[in-house]
Amino acid sequence: MKQVITIPDLRVARAALPEPVGFVPTMGYLHEGHLSLARAARAECASVAASIFVNPAQFAPTEDLASYPRDVPRDLAMLEAEGVDLIWLPTPEVMYPQGYQTWVTVEEVTQLLEGRMRPTHFRGVATVVAKLFNAVQPQRAYFGQKDAQQAVVIRRMAQDLNFPIDIVVCPIWRERDGLAMSSRNVYLSPAERQAAVVLSRSLAVVQQAYQEGQREAEVLRKSASDLIQSEPLARLQYVSCADPETLEELQGPVAGRALVSLAVFFGRTRLIDNIVLGG
Ligand code: PAF
Repeated sequence: MKQVITIPDLRVARAALPEPVGFVPTMGYLHEGHLSLARAARAECASVAASIFVNPAQFAPTEDLASYPRDVPRDLAMLEAEGVDLIWLPTPEVMYPQGYQTWVTVEEVTQLLEGRMRPTHFRGVATVVAKLFNAVQPQRAYFGQKDAQQAVVIRRMAQDLNFPIDIVVCPIWRERDGLAMSSRNVYLSPAERQAAVVLSRSLAVVQQAYQEGQREAEVLRKSASDLIQSEPLARLQYVSCADPETLEELQGPVAGRALVSLAVFFGRTRLIDNIVLGG
């Protein structure tokens, strides 16, 4: 596996890769969810490139940039074992050199859900992903459904800015007890880790209600929020039942597909999860 840091080195290494190139952008501290993206890329593409970059631009000053978990040697071993051909490890100076002042703003779909709680987050994500796409020039790029809104934002950006890249969204990976895999799960205390199962349980309750014929968006939202609020260690930020493409909140009966998503704090750790109904 070739490792590069600078953009000139990346361009030389990228030019040598057989196409199509599948690309897996990450912030490192990899788990099975990330590896499933690398595996999908390996299965579908002639070469696989990945990146590890903890992107300061997508963290608000109050968020966890400094403490975000990092273990690059372990990540490299995991990616190598998955047959990744090229890994790009840009530094913040490579990505945002002195004088940097260009940003990518996706409008409507960034203003709802996560964007409401984290107003500068998606500008940082869209900008870094555009820069990663421009530098790596993959034919396909792989993202996880756990960050459902991120996937919608990136699809929109790729379409609007004419990136000739297929955006592939892979299913959420879960621990045995249902907790969605996330690099941030490592922050949880043992008691919070146990309590965090309430996220996937509440989504299962929504799914069950939907399967039994419940279609009222408000009732579906309430069935999740009631269960989360019954967990003493959980502090609910939002439960949404929204159109999976526009991310507009649904009112009245759900007709087509619906994205049920939620954000919950356990102590200072903020976790998100989602399911798609009718999909
Ligand atoms: O999903 C992530 O890990 C990040 O948001 C991404 C897409 C690598 C951009 O920094």
